[in-house]
Amino acid sequence: MTNSIKSKIVGTGRYHPKKIYTNDDLTSMMDTSDEWIRERTGIKKRHIIDLEAKEYPSFMAQKATEQALEMANMDRNEIDLILYSITYSEMSFPNTASLTQLALGITNKCPCLDINAACTGWAYGLELVDLYLKSGRYKNILLIGCDVPSSFLDWEDRNTAVLFGDGCGAMIFQGVENSSEEHDIHLTKLACDATHAMNLALMTGGIRNPITKEILDAKKYPQTLHMDGKVIFKNAVKTMTDLASSILDKMNLNQEQIDWLVPHQANIRIIEAIARRFDFPMEKVITNIEDYGNTSSATIPTAFDEAVRSGKIQRGNKILFTSFGSGLTSAAGLITY
Ligand code: UT7
Repeated sequence: MTNSIKSKIVGTGRYHPKKIYTNDDLTSMMDTSDEWIRERTGIKKRHIIDLEAKEYPSFMAQKATEQALEMANMDRNEIDLILYSITYSEMSFPNTASLTQLALGITNKCPCLDINAACTGWAYGLELVDLYLKSGRYKNILLIGCDVPSSFLDWEDRNTAVLFGDGCGAMIFQGVENSSEEHDIHLTKLACDATHAMNLALMTGGIRNPITKEILDAKKYPQTLHMDGKVIFKNAVKTMTDLASSILDKMNLNQEQIDWLVPHQANIRIIEAIARRFDFPMEKVITNIEDYGNTSSATIPTAFDEAVRSGKIQRGNKILFTSFGSGLTSAAGLITY
């Protein structure tokens, strides 16, 4: 390890599909209401991909990365590793990171790797970014957090369909040697408790339950997202709060010393419960769930990009993030922007 290297966020970007479903739009598909969705989740609308317009994950990543490259003032061929967090890939293979290299027109043969840790995937990727940069192996890493839940939702199931949306966030990280600035990824902590793995799952489409005509006809397994909302809600609040607290303990910091908390955006009630338990003011919590719903591994990088571009997050700010998803995976960490 070359300890003189610090990790720096040099560019961020995001893309949300053009098509929007408001809560009122959903009332024609299922028995729900704008009032219920807003009160129970905080969501007002969500963006949904248009396959005919080829709004694929690699296309979304291309658009988000172009913004990040512009912010970083960097040529695309300076990226020397692409990490792509996605839960349900664009194709079974090749991986979505490779398709993104192609979409971006990167010709330097940089390695391309997908990460699947569901909603927590971006945070899992962040730990890899930090280890790779500090080892000196790579200099400029593109980390994408993108998900398209609309492709595996039952659009008649009000228990799940109202919660999610599609989106993509891109971040470019640079390893900077002997930097006098504070920027860094200071600490990351990843975890997984598989006890409740089946409480948030898409059971078909893999090796165990391939999509065959027999399975589709027999409707043997749910072919869309299966979620036990209450189990997930409770686990999400406890795990995200505990992990965020453990980061502060390890870093010997208190809540006042943190400028922003950027939590995974699954439900505004989950976020408010974490802030309450964690004794953290909501004014310092970055949220974007109102406009996009739960975009899975895109929630943190898109919220981060919005906050940077609106001037909320400034250079030198200390940012705590905490995340949770299928697995049940979880992660938290501390960054100085
Ligand atoms: O990234 C991680 C993935 N997911 C999550 O983090 C989700 C975690 N869970 C949640 O956010 C919440 O559990 C939900 C939003 C899914 C559900 O909220 P809840 O407050 O736990 O509602 P509930 O399931 O207890 O349902 C209350 C009532 C029920 O009616 P009855 O039995 O009281 O008559 C539901 O049938 O609300 C009904 N309901 C709805 N009504 C209108 C459930 N969904 C809807 C809906 N519209 N969309």
